[in-house]
Amino acid sequence: MALRDIHVDDDPVLRKKSRRVDQINARVLTLLDDMMETLRHQDGVGLAAPQVGVLRRAVVIDTGEDVLEMINPEIVEQEGEETGKEGCLSLPGLLGVVPRPARVLARYTDRDGGQREVEGEGLLARAICHEVDHLNGILFTDRAVEMVEPEEDEDEGE
Ligand code: NI
Repeated sequence: MALRDIHVDDDPVLRKKSRRVDQINARVLTLLDDMMETLRHQDGVGLAAPQVGVLRRAVVIDTGEDVLEMINPEIVEQEGEETGKEGCLSLPGLLGVVPRPARVLARYTDRDGGQREVEGEGLLARAICHEVDHLNGILFTDRAVEMVEPEEDEDEGE
């Protein structure tokens, strides 16, 4: 496993749409391993492949409670709305207030090629939505209703 460099700020790769993963090969598995290692090294909640410069539909999430590796994730149901603070490893120093569904149901493929479903509420729902947005070139700043000064809010960054 290896740490990958995170693409930040105005890097154009963050604005591109990622392609589906057709075949789970050694390269995809290494990508997932490296992404999880990079996520933990950065103490983040989620990371999507385009953030490490790979335009493929793969994300990793670790909320502290739930750990997920998702290939070709899709949100198939969503319910309610919850507003909360959000940051992103690709937008260092930025924090915003973002409305997200309170609950989502997502389908994805796991690293063994199995079809899976996960239901998430609260932080997990937020993380799934944030990471799926990355696969479509969308950043949280596009959805934020208000930006917050991180200095005023040191204890609450994600
Ligand atoms: Ni992000």
